[in-house]
Amino acid sequence: MTEALFEEEGRPRAGGSGPVRVRVPAKINLHLGVGPLRRDGYHELTTIYQAVSLYDEVTARRGDQLTLTMEGEGAGALPLDSSNLVLRAARALAERAGVPAHARLHLRKQIPIAAGLAGGSADAAAALVACDALWGTGRSRDELAEIAASVGSDVPFLVLGGTALGTGRGEVISPVLVRPSSWHWVIAAAEGGLSTPAVYAELDRLRADDATPTPLGDPDQLLAALRQRDPRVLADALGNDMQVAALSLRPDLAGTLARGRKAGALAGMICGSGPTCLFLARNAAQAEEIAADLNASGSCRIALPVFGPVAGARAA
Ligand code: C5P
Repeated sequence: MTEALFEEEGRPRAGGSGPVRVRVPAKINLHLGVGPLRRDGYHELTTIYQAVSLYDEVTARRGDQLTLTMEGEGAGALPLDSSNLVLRAARALAERAGVPAHARLHLRKQIPIAAGLAGGSADAAAALVACDALWGTGRSRDELAEIAASVGSDVPFLVLGGTALGTGRGEVISPVLVRPSSWHWVIAAAEGGLSTPAVYAELDRLRADDATPTPLGDPDQLLAALRQRDPRVLADALGNDMQVAALSLRPDLAGTLARGRKAGALAGMICGSGPTCLFLARNAAQAEEIAADLNASGSCRIALPVFGPVAGARAA
């Protein structure tokens, strides 16, 4: 990872009395190539991540134990017990740094849960950055990324942000240097969620039955498209091996994809493991139009225009 990409100005002040507020983006996958199932239960991935302008926020305050409260998307549905990725991330950092895991954490969520947008992983990344500042543990971004990988495959990317190549199970991150331009997307969140392991299992089942398209392979075309500024070129290079499995479990999403394309999107595809649908727009104004059309049509729960790339977990 390139240290220069982690400009220090974005880091919260270390060792203060708090509170420390950290904002973290959602991710989309512009290319999601899924390889074979490994012996450790994960699939070998080649993915191009992009961080986009839909944010969660974690606030860390001093406390004499580790607690978590939340508001917003998923409040009441998301368990706040030790299975929560925010608490797991805080504990992993405390253990590694040899400090007591004492903090009062509050999560403000906008990123839909179980949506293929890595919202839980984003919250874990924010908790790492926030607790590192609150406790004054001073880990480098590379060290945080290493701890992040122990919490979940997408967490290291959310610490970094931007546009990046993910390999291994998605946790080995190499920044992709793209021209300083923004891409405009529409995220269409669906009613209900999809379990990531269930979508991977469906993909394995469909592959065993020879019922899947040829796997994507290397992201060379996508990387070349990112070096140009033309969204029409990018539209032709987008791809997601998991789409067939997500559509198999949620055939209704085909209607959302068709609606977004009809509204003028240059491309429409399933985002990550779904059920969120992702549309590429020509520019910011067209993204607004497509989102308005999708919201009026009722073909998704909510459609939001976003742009990327944006930075990873940073002081708000
Ligand atoms: O790493 P994370 O905990 O986010 O992964 C959740 C689940 O998704 C894993 O337990 C695994 O079933 C599946 N997965 C996979 N291959 C990957 C990443 C995740 O099969 N590369």
